[in-house]
Amino acid sequence: MSPAERAAYLRAEIERHNHLYYVLERPEISDTEFDHLFRELVEIESAHPDLKTPDSPTQRVGTLAAGAFPSHRHAAPMLSLDNAFGDEEVRAFDERVRKALGTEDEIEYYAELKFDGLSLSLTYVGGVLETATTRGDGVTGEVVTPNAKTIRSIPLRLGTEGHRDAGTKGLEELGNEGLRDSGTQGLGELGTEGQVDLGTTVPPSLRSSVPGLLEIRGEVVMFKDAFEAANRELAAAGQQVFVNPRNAASGAMRQKDSRITAKRNLTFLAYSQGAGPRLAPTQSGTLQTLADLGFAVRQEAHCVKGIAGLLEFIHEVEAMRPNLPFGIDGVVIKVNDLDLQDALGSTARGPRWAIAYKFAAEQALTKLNSIFWSVGRTGAVTPVADLEPVFVGGVTVSRATLHNIEDLRRKDVREGDTVIVQRAGDVIPEVVGPVLEKRVGNPPIPEEPTECPECQAPIAHRPGEVIARCTNKACPAQVAAKLRHFASRTALDIEGLGDKSILRFLEEGLLTDLPSVFELKEKRERLEGLEGMGELSISNLLSAIETAKTRPLDRFLFALGIRFVGEKGAKDLARHFRSLDALRTADYEALLEVQDIGPRTAGEIQEWFEETENQQLLDRLLELGVAPSEPEAVVSDLFAGQTIVFTGKLERFSREAAEDLVIRLGGKAAGSVSKNTAFLVAGPGAGSKLAKAEEHKVPVYDEEGFLAMLSEDLLAQLVGG
Ligand code: IVH
Repeated sequence: MSPAERAAYLRAEIERHNHLYYVLERPEISDTEFDHLFRELVEIESAHPDLKTPDSPTQRVGTLAAGAFPSHRHAAPMLSLDNAFGDEEVRAFDERVRKALGTEDEIEYYAELKFDGLSLSLTYVGGVLETATTRGDGVTGEVVTPNAKTIRSIPLRLGTEGHRDAGTKGLEELGNEGLRDSGTQGLGELGTEGQVDLGTTVPPSLRSSVPGLLEIRGEVVMFKDAFEAANRELAAAGQQVFVNPRNAASGAMRQKDSRITAKRNLTFLAYSQGAGPRLAPTQSGTLQTLADLGFAVRQEAHCVKGIAGLLEFIHEVEAMRPNLPFGIDGVVIKVNDLDLQDALGSTARGPRWAIAYKFAAEQALTKLNSIFWSVGRTGAVTPVADLEPVFVGGVTVSRATLHNIEDLRRKDVREGDTVIVQRAGDVIPEVVGPVLEKRVGNPPIPEEPTECPECQAPIAHRPGEVIARCTNKACPAQVAAKLRHFASRTALDIEGLGDKSILRFLEEGLLTDLPSVFELKEKRERLEGLEGMGELSISNLLSAIETAKTRPLDRFLFALGIRFVGEKGAKDLARHFRSLDALRTADYEALLEVQDIGPRTAGEIQEWFEETENQQLLDRLLELGVAPSEPEAVVSDLFAGQTIVFTGKLERFSREAAEDLVIRLGGKAAGSVSKNTAFLVAGPGAGSKLAKAEEHKVPVYDEEGFLAMLSEDLLAQLVGG
């Protein structure tokens, strides 16, 4: 056997064992035997670098990437789903579907688990994994291929020898492991209807290699055991632990160093296909084919008939939820027949043929040890419950917000009470109320403090506000909270400047306000004098601070902590104004023109930029070399001088993407129609803006008409990269 033949054999063998182990959970060889095969391949490849292929399992160990994640446009958009809360909303969905299809008959649905992770689109070309992309805005995502390659349940090549054989072992052996066997057709007792015969729908050529382009979508999750193991390791190393498996998975996928991703033990659970040849005529058939091609596909999903079938499935899943090896946050319901899906179509928000049933917030009982008052970044002094740790909604909760004094009194929560704690999705845990029967004695009614618990300055209520605020702008707790927000992951993302370091640097006088972050490098000697601060961690911190100087404009704006300007608002502002200068000089009217910025926020932004203190803050930041990177350049002046408004649903773009397009073509996108509007693009569901356009005699186009204004070349240039 030549080295080339041996390498090819080893690659196939190693991937077959990966599939057996990670997808079917049924290994055939020991870890040591596996290591031998792997090491032999590494040796051959290092002796003959030309034999290294992009789909070689040796590529799964990860590398260190430089720079930001490149972006990639999805061949078919990644839509999101509408939510349904409660049985009634599922009924309404079923009725909408039947009405749209003009039928009284029961619809066949495919009901699946809603995996709680991060969605990923895998592009295979000629059956080989080429690109892995995050969802992004649904049109364009970030390329995270090196990270995805470390996930063993992601086939690097589709439908290799090993996967085809795997099916012959029978479903019994799989037991309750939960993963659907590839190559078999059974789905369990519930509804095998709508199943397709793989022998006829998947041609042999598709099994060994899929020609052309194929996008496979699924969710990257961290199983509960992997999550616990990762947290044990982090805790042992004195590092901050992950709050929940979803954050851990999403953090791992956004690592610049995929060697770290490789250690996180992530799993990819496939749930649909994007662009490419249709794999089957139904959703259930598609999943069956995906299993056959080597993907991990969960077997809990079922074909169900009508509303009764749906509700039964939902309640079954609700019961099995705590025992699943990974987190779910609901059930996804899809019309099973793909032709019917096409007939129903999609809106810009999501398909009309699917809905996500979201579980109600999880609740738990625990003891409220004490109530303390915390000072936030705007000086807000809010009551917080210190709780006996309790596991709820996928995380251990030991603190929960009590919102404000009024809420606290209304709920009649007191220290020592047994309370109901609730947590839904990403929401901050909250105390729902006390269990009065369990109250011991008559604990005192909590009082709002009269001075700041941190700096003892007087606290005051702004007119009409329930929340009390510390009146001292230099309050160390406020400064610490501002800095925490400034450096946080969704803002300037300064690694190494977490809670603990911020407090310590404040104490040492190394940090005093936001700009002082960028002066740290001049204080290197003092940093070196701090216990536990090694050369390496100082260098890393300082280089993270340098990197933060040129973060995108929207992150910078969000980091400033302007009231009512969240991540989304900051994006809108950055997209609209495109430079800090333009935003700084914008007046109230100009701010109001930004899509989704209302009078209250516009007022708050204007006020913020007018305050001398904030102007000085910005000037100092700029002097220190902060230069937020501005959104992509204008590529043509097609719409120069024109203000364009979008309304109603767009089929091909998200509203955001359409506005971005206008801006990159030199125009302005506004949120409301006036006599200065060049034209309105109206999709289905357009309302008052359409009427207003008619009133002002503003031309109106539909989406097709709008697209017709752009040449093919221009479109390709705008969205191709
Ligand atoms: S189908 C157009 N199926 O939920 C179809 N999504 O709220 C869109 N998700 O972004 C996706 N499990 O990340 C689908 N079985 C499942 C899913 C699932 C989890 C996520 C997915 C999507 C989000 C939509």
